[in-house]
Amino acid sequence: MCGIYGFIGGGKVEELINGLKKLEYRGYDSAGIAFAKNGELFVEKHTGKVDQLREHLNSDLSKRINSGIAHTRWASHGIPNDLNAHPQMDCQHKIAVVHNGIIENYEQLKETLKAEGHVFVSQTDTEVVAHLVEKYFNGDLLDAVRKAILDLDGTYAIGVLHADVKDEIIFARRKSPLVVTADGKRSYCASDVTPLISSSRDVVFLEDGQLARLVAGEYEIFESSGKSVAKTIQHIEWDEKAAEKGGYKHFMIKEIHEEPRVISDAITGRISEKKVVLKELKGWDNYLKNVNKINVIACGTSYHAGLIFKYFFESLRPFNVEVEVSSEYRYRNVLIDEHTLTIAISQSGETADTLESVGLVKSRGGKVLAISNVVGSTLTRESEKTVYINAGPEISVASTKAYIGQLTVLYLLALYIDELFGGNHPDIVESLQKLPEIADNFIISSVEAIKEVASKYVGYENFMYIGRGINYPSALEGALKLKEISYTNAVGYQAGELKHGPIALLDEKFPVMAVAVNDQLYNKMMSNILETKARNAHVVAVLTEGDLNLKESINDAIFLPKLPSYLYPFLVGTAFQLFAYHVADARDLNIDMPRNLAKSVTIE
Ligand code: F6R
Repeated sequence: MCGIYGFIGGGKVEELINGLKKLEYRGYDSAGIAFAKNGELFVEKHTGKVDQLREHLNSDLSKRINSGIAHTRWASHGIPNDLNAHPQMDCQHKIAVVHNGIIENYEQLKETLKAEGHVFVSQTDTEVVAHLVEKYFNGDLLDAVRKAILDLDGTYAIGVLHADVKDEIIFARRKSPLVVTADGKRSYCASDVTPLISSSRDVVFLEDGQLARLVAGEYEIFESSGKSVAKTIQHIEWDEKAAEKGGYKHFMIKEIHEEPRVISDAITGRISEKKVVLKELKGWDNYLKNVNKINVIACGTSYHAGLIFKYFFESLRPFNVEVEVSSEYRYRNVLIDEHTLTIAISQSGETADTLESVGLVKSRGGKVLAISNVVGSTLTRESEKTVYINAGPEISVASTKAYIGQLTVLYLLALYIDELFGGNHPDIVESLQKLPEIADNFIISSVEAIKEVASKYVGYENFMYIGRGINYPSALEGALKLKEISYTNAVGYQAGELKHGPIALLDEKFPVMAVAVNDQLYNKMMSNILETKARNAHVVAVLTEGDLNLKESINDAIFLPKLPSYLYPFLVGTAFQLFAYHVADARDLNIDMPRNLAKSVTIE
């Protein structure tokens, strides 16, 4: 996730670097800073690490400056390179802008600004903000930024510095955090509290639509109408390590809490008039209309997301969708023709087996569409098209928010292809738009209850996860999460398969995690739960709220809100992540870095 840091009130260039160092934990691919001296703007930005930026700055590090803004970028629009790194500038090189988030309407804005004579040099959405501020600047920077943000659709946290405006820097936010503070001499703004708490622990979290004007040692907050608003100051108790994790104990739990935002970011700019718009697939409509087979290739958690795609797509129309783990697919003698679409899913975009499978598909003349989280990763370079999940970097090794982001994008993709075939599902599109709020409410209201359930199962050595239909892959994913971070044997099965063997495992020492939400397979799941109960297994059932039918037959329940059945995998996924997290946490394990695992599996 990108990081922003800025200060005003005097200091050295090196302090901008020090601020960025404290944001490094968020993950990034390039870094840059801007400051002004005697009406001239200095910008230094590069791909690579903050330490490389420090080397580039060299003798400038000790320079005295009045103010500066700094950024670590995690690419979303445009590959990671020096030009796309932030700060971005206007035509006159007077204005520097740093930005976190996604400007949905940047293409339209860019066209308009170009027609007005503005010249663009990067592929970023951010650059439009610099040109908009230039367009509206009339001596009052706050007013120019205020007018610029009124033109923006999407999400942003921005910082703006103008070489001719010595005494202030401006920040603004919508849906992407910004925190402001001052210590009497200087004032500061950052995308989280980590780089601020060494200066002051009394901070203001900007709210959506607000702007902050920072001057030396003071700051003011404004509504987008320009009206000044009172500050709500909060005192931060966290130390820096806790602050990196937003006050959470581990990145994993922080990242689970980010899932509603991830869903919303994955949807941003991809829905228009209740239809899915995937600009990334431009030029492919004719090809997609003639596809009669979809092959999905992926590993681990990404493979489970692929399986859910299959069930969801088939619920839209009968179709030939095959999902295979890459380490098997790459050795198969697969039939691929011009009517086959291959979807390769990889959070990192670097998984060796998935890349080899992509090579196989291409060698047979097939087309590959990548679903990835890392702009410019090998997979995205090897594939014809990519739809990014925009989840921001995932730091915990076990995939959580990236999985939810993958599901979101795969649902959009399924709807998009289905629309090309003549389908129309405004109800599903609408329900996806509501999902971030539903997911947020679910996490807030259930995290303690799930912790409580998990606390009862910390001592067990074996678990069986079962589900049916679209919730069968959730069983696989739930079992994988528990294995990875708590080192507990957990197996996932189609509930209907129990009687064909796995049921022999069950006894009072082998708990069952069963997904029995209110879908068309609910009655079948009830029977499966009764079967497991008859073998004395303890059952934790994931149910729809208000469902008391199984009260006497289960030991514990995790309740989900009532949803259209196709949405359950999102919340079941989150519920199982929380369960695994709390089991592992109760055992005091190294949750963010489980033994034997790596975030990016670049070996075969
Ligand atoms: C599980 C997990 C792994 C990855 C798998 C594929 O939590 O993180 O199973 O999902 O290694 O990785 P990507 O998606 O990067 O190809």
